[in-house]
Amino acid sequence: MEIKVKKLEEEFGKDLLIAQTPSDVEALRIKYLGRKAEINQLFSIVPSLSKEAKGVWGKNLNILKNKITFALSEKSRGLNTKEEKIDLTYPSARLTRGSRHILNVVSEEICSVFEKLGFTVVEGTEIEDEWHNFSALNIPLDHPSRDAFDTFYLDIPQPQEKHRGKFLLRSHTSPSQARVMKLSKPPIAVVSPGRVYRPDSVDASHSFMFHQVEGFAVDENINFAHLKGVLLNFARLFFSPDVNLRLRPHFFPFTEPSAEVDISCFICKGKQEKCSLCKGKGWLEILGCGMIHPEVLKNCGIDPKKYKGFAFGMGVERPAMLKYGINDIRLFYENDVKFLEQF
Ligand code: PHE
Repeated sequence: MEIKVKKLEEEFGKDLLIAQTPSDVEALRIKYLGRKAEINQLFSIVPSLSKEAKGVWGKNLNILKNKITFALSEKSRGLNTKEEKIDLTYPSARLTRGSRHILNVVSEEICSVFEKLGFTVVEGTEIEDEWHNFSALNIPLDHPSRDAFDTFYLDIPQPQEKHRGKFLLRSHTSPSQARVMKLSKPPIAVVSPGRVYRPDSVDASHSFMFHQVEGFAVDENINFAHLKGVLLNFARLFFSPDVNLRLRPHFFPFTEPSAEVDISCFICKGKQEKCSLCKGKGWLEILGCGMIHPEVLKNCGIDPKKYKGFAFGMGVERPAMLKYGINDIRLFYENDVKFLEQF
């Protein structure tokens, strides 16, 4: 038995060395492991052996069978990889490259202009509470913007501190003013971009979710001329070096005095009657602004006798539409790749 097993193992070793192709390996598999393989004849002798020899040779034959199986599969693996040819001239699969969303690009463009003017970017939170979104900003309890028709209130447990009221989706980025002022000391110059939510019905110029950039500065001698200078610089750096500003008196509870700001139309320069952008008006409204109301400074722990501040808030969609000639706000959110890829 011993001689036979040894011979079989040696013979297999030699045969394996000579095997060159996958079909050679297959022939060996049939010869050494197939139905008529010699190892099977050897297995059939085992039951007739003495009790002790049975155990030894049964085990040895099994080990040999496993060795053969393993050696054959290793050999065929080696042959297969050798056969795989790599053609380095073959063109690779084309990768489609994604692009950044135009609203993120524009929002960052706006912020980076203000960064050049010395402002720091700080992001607020989209889930706010009534105190930060309204009360801190001097918006009275009976103000219509607090109505559920104008603000999305969240159906979740209220904040633990009673004065914070209910949780809601912020309806503007102005609560960032309160958050920053509460935590820092003047001088402060911050811009704060982000999403805001209002229950508007959707059309070409309205959406229930849109983007704003808030900006504000607080220091000892801040005045309205600083505000105007910062906004003029912004408009010229962002839109076009020759635009002018027009400030119209307005009202916001959190600023006094307040103004709405228009830029001169950068397409027709305010001269063309049939301008598609400004519809012949010559001006485009871009933001709201004013001097921070002393009550707001006080609510946020800043002494209004010592410090003054200005604040402004602008949408991102509108400047993006003006700058890139987009005529429907819904295009921003439909995520049609053909639209998004253009920017
Ligand atoms: N929060 C105002 C809005 O959403 C914009 C604004 C911000 C106006 C800061 C004045 C000062 O319409």
